[in-house]
Amino acid sequence: MKKIIPWSQAHFVSNEKFHLNKAFDSTWVSGGEYVEKFEKEFCKYIKSDFAISVNNGTSAIHLAYLALKLKAGDEIIIPSFGYLAAANLALLMNLKPVFADVDLDTFCVNFSSIKKKITKKTKLIVVINTYGNVCDLRPILKLAKLKKINVLEDSAESLGSKYYNKNSGILADIGTFSFQATKTITTGEGGMVITKKNKEFKDLLNLYRNHGIKNKRYMHLVPGHNFRLTNLQAAIGYTQLKNFNKILKNRKKSYNLYKKLLQNIKGIKLQKFQSNVRPLVWTMAMVLDKNIFGSRDSIIKKMLKKKIETRNGFYSTNRLKIFKKFHSKDLKNSDYLSRNVICLPLFNGIKNSQIKYIAKCLINLRK
Ligand SMILES: Cc1ncc(COP(=O)(O)O)c(C=O)c1O
Repeated sequence: MKKIIPWSQAHFVSNEKFHLNKAFDSTWVSGGEYVEKFEKEFCKYIKSDFAISVNNGTSAIHLAYLALKLKAGDEIIIPSFGYLAAANLALLMNLKPVFADVDLDTFCVNFSSIKKKITKKTKLIVVINTYGNVCDLRPILKLAKLKKINVLEDSAESLGSKYYNKNSGILADIGTFSFQATKTITTGEGGMVITKKNKEFKDLLNLYRNHGIKNKRYMHLVPGHNFRLTNLQAAIGYTQLKNFNKILKNRKKSYNLYKKLLQNIKGIKLQKFQSNVRPLVWTMAMVLDKNIFGSRDSIIKKMLKKKIETRNGFYSTNRLKIFKKFHSKDLKNSDYLSRNVICLPLFNGIKNSQIKYIAKCLINLRK
């Protein structure tokens, strides 16, 4: 029986095992030298003077919220279509998520929607660089500066993408990343926070990551968490980052092949990237025309019958009960994308023959 083509698969490109064994043999399995090495390498790659590793991308956002001293009732503007870690955390911390709509072509948050949602209580704007795209940040950052509001760039899906030639994640006050198994580089689970903010903020990131302890053992200065990445994970991340160019090249090649095969097919609208964005695409996302394909969910089932795992787009916040108190009528694009986006397999190591098979199967499913 033919094996299923997974939507994503972790792929190790080089001598990850060597470094993992080295960390293992050192017996430093919690903290250790690879944690620092990984953070340093990340700074070098992303061009930041500061990076702090954490145990996942959700912790990265949580850590930023804590260091920003956000408190109950503070408003945070968050896109209503995207992976909703930032929104979940808002609920967990009794903050008020205020949802902004996204653009139908880029799937990224809409500047005009953000502008409408700012109030005196707005403490943070979160943008999500969905599927490897980068939000049009210039106008958002300009407005946020004027209003003295921090901006967090959730770059969990956009490591390696560029906006006006700068790395995604480095553009706003705070950038967060995820290294979960499906992400562009992986440590199993893992994350990173970078920031341009001052030393006090950086110190708070360190404190909240580490139980609120600074130098003196068991002296808790703030009620902190344990968000630390292990030395074992950092050893994998360090190696992946050292080989990032290989990963980048593979992904670009795979994306370009998909694009060639699908961009002119009636009924398929690929995610668009503005001319100021050079994306490193994380997943192959597109909108399917219902009149030509039937429902997106029926296509997911039919693709599975062909042994291809695909994914639906995110649920818009209006479609989720947990955000009921915060539903809003003006999130039409998010609601539309939520029903019609499909993501095809794209991962480091996917074969050209697999991409051709996937594209052919999808095209043949037109009514
Ligand atoms: C945009 C975005 N933000 C945050 C996260 C959370 O990251 P993690 O799964 O590492 O906690 C993810 C992915 O899972 C994501 O795609």
